[in-house]
Amino acid sequence: MTDLSTTYLGLKLRNPVIAASSGLTLNIDDLIALDKSGIGAIVLKSIFEEEIRRELEKDQFQMNKDSFIYPETMDFYDDFNAVDDSLTKYLRTIREAKEKTSVPIIASINCVTAEKWPYYAGVLQDAGADALELNVFALPTNFNLTAQETEQLYFDIIEQVKKEVTIPISLKISFYSSNLGSLIKRLTESGISGLVLFNRFYNPDIDPDALKITSSHVFSTPAEISLPLRWIAIMSGRVQCDLAASTGIHDGISVVKQLLAGARAVEIASVLYRKGIPYVAEMLKDMEQWMNLKGFSSVDDFRGKVNQASVKDPAAFERVQFMKYFAGKE
Ligand SMILES: Cc1cc2nc3c(=O)[nH]c(=O)nc-3n(C[C@H](O)[C@H](O)[C@H](O)COP(=O)(O)O)c2cc1C
Repeated sequence: MTDLSTTYLGLKLRNPVIAASSGLTLNIDDLIALDKSGIGAIVLKSIFEEEIRRELEKDQFQMNKDSFIYPETMDFYDDFNAVDDSLTKYLRTIREAKEKTSVPIIASINCVTAEKWPYYAGVLQDAGADALELNVFALPTNFNLTAQETEQLYFDIIEQVKKEVTIPISLKISFYSSNLGSLIKRLTESGISGLVLFNRFYNPDIDPDALKITSSHVFSTPAEISLPLRWIAIMSGRVQCDLAASTGIHDGISVVKQLLAGARAVEIASVLYRKGIPYVAEMLKDMEQWMNLKGFSSVDDFRGKVNQASVKDPAAFERVQFMKYFAGKE
């Protein structure tokens, strides 16, 4: 008998395959389908800091309105209040997901500052979220800031959010950093329970016919697993908090690879779009088959077995140049 169960962020998961935040983790029917497919946990689609700020402004207007006298301004307030209340819907989704699914529900916030919005993390906790994933990244286009000044944002956000919640917090980061290993290490020591390596972003492209900017490669390919695999393998023996892998995991064997590298869990999105939610069951079956073949009865038996700290040739994870014999092509 194989046991796929694990813990992630201190939560008990029936297996380490988590539905990453995406358009498939927003509607209750999809969340129920994910639960039925056997998924280990769900990260809800992110709400954006901007949405929280908009709500705050609305409250501010409401307060002013109560003491206001000009009727024409009242019309403006009424229009403003008609704006779709995405936050109320989000809270309803958390409550419904907790009622109608059996898996841990991780709320997600996409944020780019540490100001004003963090109180809302407490509201998500009160709605029943089991944990909170913070999706933090702004492309550093202020060229007057140093790398350290730019990265301070992560620490400021963690500090503010920690004041508001008692549920575990994870941070989902990008690989854009001038000193990634050091940043990862310092983040894992900042009081978070988990770090997700890495987020994958919306990428711009150019339509040469229309001379316009378009989007490209919305979904990952299996080849994209290499970057998170390398960094999970390098860091997993060296950090205190849980590491979760994200990007390029498209089948059960890729999940196994990330666990061998030392991940506690993986987060998948593109494969759910490409192959459908029920494909999760097949991924889990392939994992079990591999475990049976290798004689592992639980994921703890093989987690981290091929991370940098465990292998005979640790430099292999740091090799970045193609040597002549290595490429075998010259
Ligand atoms: C359509 C789509 C929407 C996404 N929306 C979010 C989001 O709201 N918040 C977030 O943190 N990540 C979001 N992601 C990123 C995924 O959670 C995931 O980290 C990324 O796609 C890499 O995993 P994959 O290779 O399995 O797709 C989205 C991805 C896709 C494809």
